[in-house]
Amino acid sequence: MAGPVPWHLLPENSSVGSKGQLMIAGCDTLELAAEFGTPVFAYDEEHLRARCREAVAAFGSHATYATKAFLCGAMAKLAHEEGMSLDVATGGELHLALAAGVPADRLVMHGNNKSVAELAMALEAGVGRIVVDAFEELDRIEQLVAGGTTNPNEAPQKVLLRVTPGVEAHTHEFISTGQDDSKFGFTVSTGVAAAAVERAKASESVELVGIHAHIGSQVFRAESFAEAVSVLGAFAQPFGLPELVIGGGLGVAYVEGEEAPTISQWSKIVLDGAAAAGITASIGVEPGRSIAAAAAVTLYTVGVRKDLAGIRTYVAVDGGMSDNPRPVLYGSGYESCLARAVEAPRPLPARVVGKHCESGDLLVRDGHLPDDLALDDILATPVTGAYGHSMGSNYNKVLRPPVVFCRDGDARLVVRRETYDDLLLTDLGF
Ligand SMILES: Cc1ncc(COP(=O)(O)O)c(C=O)c1O
Repeated sequence: MAGPVPWHLLPENSSVGSKGQLMIAGCDTLELAAEFGTPVFAYDEEHLRARCREAVAAFGSHATYATKAFLCGAMAKLAHEEGMSLDVATGGELHLALAAGVPADRLVMHGNNKSVAELAMALEAGVGRIVVDAFEELDRIEQLVAGGTTNPNEAPQKVLLRVTPGVEAHTHEFISTGQDDSKFGFTVSTGVAAAAVERAKASESVELVGIHAHIGSQVFRAESFAEAVSVLGAFAQPFGLPELVIGGGLGVAYVEGEEAPTISQWSKIVLDGAAAAGITASIGVEPGRSIAAAAAVTLYTVGVRKDLAGIRTYVAVDGGMSDNPRPVLYGSGYESCLARAVEAPRPLPARVVGKHCESGDLLVRDGHLPDDLALDDILATPVTGAYGHSMGSNYNKVLRPPVVFCRDGDARLVVRRETYDDLLLTDLGF
């Protein structure tokens, strides 16, 4: 018999309303569902801001928000207002951040296999840093500069080199990136990374300012970061570069029983590790998930309940893998609860599934819900603020949900729901 949804999985400014319903930052989630429809991503804005501030308190302007976790105009502005730089990994993320008014010099251009067009965009915009992932990217930058494409201040573009430090993060195979067998970066153990440093230093088109590594995502073991810092420190120190960026990857708790270090605890381990290794370079980080994941819940409407005798109960909602592909991609676990009774025990074992034409389309594989779950109930899945909206799709031509920022009892629509006509915008076949 499962108890109520663990309170610490809900956004920081959650409370229980007078009828037992879930409130987020003073907003009644049942009213949010009625006003904006479902599915809807409901964020606690102050939670997002607090996490940004926590990162900035530890790392100053070297705290960089990884926008891939969750990006829209309001989020880009929020992270910038709170003092973070922004990591953009594609031309699309770069375009959005610039459109939101984030100054280019506060942007860090990431990505493996950056195209000539993306590098040209980054140079012309005047991004603060480009993190170079491969020799081919150095070639492309040099060719662009030779052809007259430079950043607005006409100084050599500041770059970091992404290296793989040989640290295997204890996480899902597809999101661990620091081990030698990786598509990312230059390998330290084989000497390729050192050769890349020499190559970048010799280039007149770039100014090499630092070394970068990202060991993986959803990493709970803080020791993995300490290990990465010391390996990186040993590699980077002889080059005397001013910056060392340790990437993102701090894990968050998604389900009952999971616990993750806070950003402050993580930063202490990273900075203590750096000091112990005698690293004099400034240390930067790129948190994404730990900023955004726990700040939001997704609200859905229950459309079908099937009690399959002797097998299980299926609860079908009006979203699915198009708004949260993580369960399908990684087998990720989530909790669920009813918005009208957030403190209710959840004795009913249930699988929460979506509305897509796939048996694998599930949101909560082994969930628990209150017994009296009924049609049209509003179901909430906590910790869906990262890699949900951003990884979403239009599969089955399902409309992408809106995003609402809640603060002091006000609900601000920051991304509207797609319309059926939006689906026709890029289609020339009519
Ligand atoms: C280079 C880089 N930095 C930062 C991040 C953000 O990681 P997380 O959201 O786990 O903090 C990622 C995620 O893939 C990444 O590849």
